[in-house]
Amino acid sequence: MSSRPVALVTGASAGIGRELAKVLAREGHDLVLVARRQAELDELATALKEQYGANAQVVAADLAEPDAAAKVLAELGADPRIDVLVNNAGFGGHGAFADRDRDADLRMVAVNVTALTDLTKLVLPSMVARGRGRVLNVASTAAFQPGPFMAVYYATKAYVLSLSEALSEEVSGTGVTVTCLCPGVTDTEFHAVAGTDAQPLTRTRLSMSAASVAESGYAAMMRGKRVDIPGAHNKFGAVSVRFAPRGMVLKVVRRLHPSSD
Ligand SMILES: NC(=O)c1ccc[n+]([C@@H]2O[C@H](COP(=O)([O-])OP(=O)(O)OC[C@H]3O[C@@H](n4cnc5c(N)ncnc54)[C@H](OP(=O)(O)O)[C@@H]3O)[C@@H](O)[C@H]2O)c1
Repeated sequence: MSSRPVALVTGASAGIGRELAKVLAREGHDLVLVARRQAELDELATALKEQYGANAQVVAADLAEPDAAAKVLAELGADPRIDVLVNNAGFGGHGAFADRDRDADLRMVAVNVTALTDLTKLVLPSMVARGRGRVLNVASTAAFQPGPFMAVYYATKAYVLSLSEALSEEVSGTGVTVTCLCPGVTDTEFHAVAGTDAQPLTRTRLSMSAASVAESGYAAMMRGKRVDIPGAHNKFGAVSVRFAPRGMVLKVVRRLHPSSD
């Protein structure tokens, strides 16, 4: 690795994570690219070198596996320097909690919550000791209310938002910042994976591109902003749910994720 700052991005093989890796490379970072699909990561690493002169190390890993975060960092050698940690890997799933596959839901918690928490736990202390570093955790506008028929997914994102906001306060004054990116519907593979492709919330013209979400998240992280919600319509939605009766919010979200799909 060179003297450029190093950014580790999880979920860099597609969607928002892939775009965040491109922005980070363009802005002078070397990269550690993490996801399961090695071929996609290798292809991205080559493109980042050609386009931006960035060195990228690929770590193919399943973040749902036990101790995944420690295993990823072990691939980087003893005491690796991470200047920017982007916890972006995540996935959703649709259906009634009582019917959904147990393993699928536990894997969701493992990737969206456990791996994100453990990577932050393993990387943050050395950032604080150095007096500099940035963490960007990708939650969702799903973080702002419960999600009937996507209950575990919404709950994982509420956890990410809560953890990130708390940590941003804990590290204030240390030179380290923690930012939580909360995208609304974004045009990526997420919806095919979650089984929500045909749902009303997904089929909206308000869907944003992964590139614009990544630019927004990167800018917010560099400013040390606590929470970033890309898109005026998404900001409006996140604020509105604070004032609406919870029962009404639950009914509206339920309608957005029909159980019969
Ligand atoms: N798209 C949206 O509408 C939307 C809205 C709000 C928030 N988000 C959040 O944005 C983040 C990125 O999602 P996206 O929209 O870019 O979806 P995506 O295109 O499906 O990308 C998801 C990324 O996560 C990685 N990933 C999934 N499971 C993994 C595992 N077990 N181990 C390692 N990596 C794993 C995938 O890589 P591999 O498959 O190669 O492992 C992929 O790189 C997620 O946290 C998602 O919850 C998305």
